[in-house]
Amino acid sequence: MIAVDRKASKPLHVQIYDAYRAIIVARNLRAGQQIPSTRDLASELGISRIPVLNAYAQLLAEGYFETRVGAGTFVSSSLPDQLTSCEYRAGERAEARSGPRLTSRRSALLPGREGAPWTYGSGAFSVGQLAFDKFPLHAWSTLVSRHCRNVRASSLNYGDSMGSKDFRETVATYLRTARAVHCEADQIMAVSGSQQALDISARVLLDPGSRVWIEEPSYQLTRYALTMAGCHLIPVPVDGEGLDVAAGIQRSRTARAAYVTPSHQFPLGVTMSASRRLQLLDWAQSAGSWILEDDYDSEYRYEKMPIASLQGLDRNSRVIYIGTFSKTLFPSLRLVYMVIPSDLVDRFAGVRRAMDLFPAHLYQAVLTDFIREGHFARHIRKTRLLYSERRDALVEALRIEFGSLLDVVGGEAGMHLVVTLPKGMLDNKISVRAAAQKLWLWPLSACYLSKALRQGFILGFGSTKAAEMRQAVRRLRSVVMGA
Ligand SMILES: Cc1ncc(COP(=O)(O)O)c(C=O)c1O
Repeated sequence: MIAVDRKASKPLHVQIYDAYRAIIVARNLRAGQQIPSTRDLASELGISRIPVLNAYAQLLAEGYFETRVGAGTFVSSSLPDQLTSCEYRAGERAEARSGPRLTSRRSALLPGREGAPWTYGSGAFSVGQLAFDKFPLHAWSTLVSRHCRNVRASSLNYGDSMGSKDFRETVATYLRTARAVHCEADQIMAVSGSQQALDISARVLLDPGSRVWIEEPSYQLTRYALTMAGCHLIPVPVDGEGLDVAAGIQRSRTARAAYVTPSHQFPLGVTMSASRRLQLLDWAQSAGSWILEDDYDSEYRYEKMPIASLQGLDRNSRVIYIGTFSKTLFPSLRLVYMVIPSDLVDRFAGVRRAMDLFPAHLYQAVLTDFIREGHFARHIRKTRLLYSERRDALVEALRIEFGSLLDVVGGEAGMHLVVTLPKGMLDNKISVRAAAQKLWLWPLSACYLSKALRQGFILGFGSTKAAEMRQAVRRLRSVVMGA
């Protein structure tokens, strides 16, 4: 039953071990059956005894074989049931024969890894794509090398659940000056993504089934993160002033939290008006609720000064502020910061410790120097001009190619804008057709939790050069007009 191939790259002892193991698992050798002696098998296979001895030693150590003094070697009589009880049929996958495979209902609510066709590639209008070629790679890699060369023994140890002290001090200074956030370094927590920030917030502030207002339309991954955290999402419409607080109160006055993107609503690009901000803060205070402020791309505002944070207006410490380096620097960095009300810091740190202890040190240290040495501010100044140029080129090309067919919404800030389609056109269908031509268009309807009120596309312009925009919009036109 055992054969070996002397020319194979797999060592002989591993071939013998694998062959016996497979035969036993397939139940072709049963518990208690005798195995040939090492000498007999070696001579039968025409090989030296050493590989056979090694294979037998391994099979004995793992409990497939047992020896009986004076009698020889046998298939173990105490093999665990699951090894021998499940019938093995060649070519059949283990998953197909192992019976019910229960998974959580929550995980079934999410799309799998494949996702929708428009998420397969990146190109002209991909959302979240930046001008990576303009990133100061030299300055960044010099800092990375410096930190890698000078690793200190002390930095190898476990760290603070909130993140490293220097990083938090640097971020707090930046947020106070650039975003009018009220904070001290000990309120800052470094996390590895906006979704992790939401997950930790939900674990600290909410219970399974807690109702949470969410902007309608909104960022899909926010919905997924809050759904996975067990929240019951209440879609609240967004109009020209941002989240409609009165509609939220009508739908669920006692919701435990509200998720908002007040500086630049995703995806519609609206800035929440001052009166809505005050209404929202008032509601949160009177209902005893929390506000999750996602300030994901506020550094990029083109005509006016950046809009100050909602957190900075809050006098009752009801806002959890979340900001990211995914837009200002690059998304593979996975560095995001939260500002936590002082009295909740202990709770947040406790939950963080239970999840993944603390964030990795290296990039926090690199980024601290990157900011302190002025590279961060310089990069933002440079890219703000660049994105503004790309945005203008996109708006102009849309005007030339589409005239008044498409409405352009929310291009005042960030690296995306929205175009809405005339009645009767379905964005989803067009996106699928565009993906077949390797044009990746995010349909607006995918951002709605309930029935989509508008059809259109979210067009990212961060990675397309102004000079190439017209050509890209022509491609867009040919797919849309082919509808
Ligand atoms: C609304 C919103 N929040 C946050 C992010 C960034 O997420 P992360 O920081 O996890 O990369 C994005 C990215 O597109 C976004 O659209």
